[in-house]
Amino acid sequence: MTAQDSASGAQGTAGWLDASLPPQQQVLGFLYAKWVIGALRALVELKVPDALADGPRTVAQISETTGTDADALYRVLRAVAAAGVLEERTDGSFVLTPVSAGLVSDATDGIRDMFLFASDPTLWRPYENVAHSVRTGEAAFNNVFGMSYYEYTKANPASGAVLDRAMKQNHYPGTDRIFAEFDFGRFPRIADVGGGRGQFLAEVLRRHAGVTGVLADQAHTVADAKETFADDGLADRVEIVPTDFFVEVPAGCDAYFIKHTLHNWADDKAELILRRIREAIGGNGEARLLIVENLLRGPGEWDIGKLIDVESLAVLGGRERSREEWNHLTAAAGFAPANEPVPGDIALLEYRPV
Ligand SMILES: C[S@@+](CC[C@H](N)C(=O)[O-])C[C@H]1O[C@@H](n2cnc3c(N)ncnc32)[C@H](O)[C@@H]1O
Repeated sequence: MTAQDSASGAQGTAGWLDASLPPQQQVLGFLYAKWVIGALRALVELKVPDALADGPRTVAQISETTGTDADALYRVLRAVAAAGVLEERTDGSFVLTPVSAGLVSDATDGIRDMFLFASDPTLWRPYENVAHSVRTGEAAFNNVFGMSYYEYTKANPASGAVLDRAMKQNHYPGTDRIFAEFDFGRFPRIADVGGGRGQFLAEVLRRHAGVTGVLADQAHTVADAKETFADDGLADRVEIVPTDFFVEVPAGCDAYFIKHTLHNWADDKAELILRRIREAIGGNGEARLLIVENLLRGPGEWDIGKLIDVESLAVLGGRERSREEWNHLTAAAGFAPANEPVPGDIALLEYRPV
């Protein structure tokens, strides 16, 4: 871990290198990620964490519950336990740890759907050909699957459902901090553009009783988004608007919130979305654009966003951005900065119309 990592509290990649190897072999330590993810994904797909939800179980018990080959199951369980994700006990049983508890279906603050999405072949296979992205500047996804990611999820509803379920679990300490620090209550009416099934907007409405919301996303994504607002009497305070944000964004809101969406697009497309938002704002000088994305640190500094940036490139042809890049992009669409977010994590960037 470098001084910068300790200063930021970030883990950095140093923990992934194997110091027991000579330096020139330490890059091989990065392959451990493939071994762990492949093995863990099998267990999650087979609902092994569910089989352990009520306490320790022997391999024979887990094998019976999950309908799997006991010997192969044991070897994969042992590997995942050795990696620190499960605990293998001396009596031959396995048990969940705090790290694996969130992989149980429907766990409180669970992460199963996000793990299955992030390790899904649709996000994994572009990594087989990142060189294509580097050669061409285009998404490797399109080269592998013959269409763009969003065309694919539209044409394959099961894959779209994996994305939509995962987005319900798309909150992290960084987003919790935004809720704690940013006063969404300033805005009587807030649009969540590309807001998925409304998970974040619902949280805003829950926290700010005086606020109403507009959820704008693709028709198939918002088709049953009403369910998100069914609890806590939120349904009357939200309007759900099927939208293609390249064509139109609903007008009449005081804030236009857009989270983890602009990074999916290269600058020309991202600028077009921002222009549509600017058109929706019209002459309301008090309205605000609120972008939530990773805000990249400078050259040479550890930043998880720099790794996510390669995924954005390979899967979607999109990109993570620095403050300067965000300011440049938003200026082209008619916005000026209105706050000073801290780089190196998920940040809320506030812009005013000009
Ligand atoms: C990565 S998800 C982010 C969802 C949500 N904002 C969150 O942070 O959990 C990107 C969203 O952009 C939406 N999207 C993609 N293309 C769109 C389009 N042309 N018009 C409207 N929404 C679109 C997707 O349906 C998806 O919900």
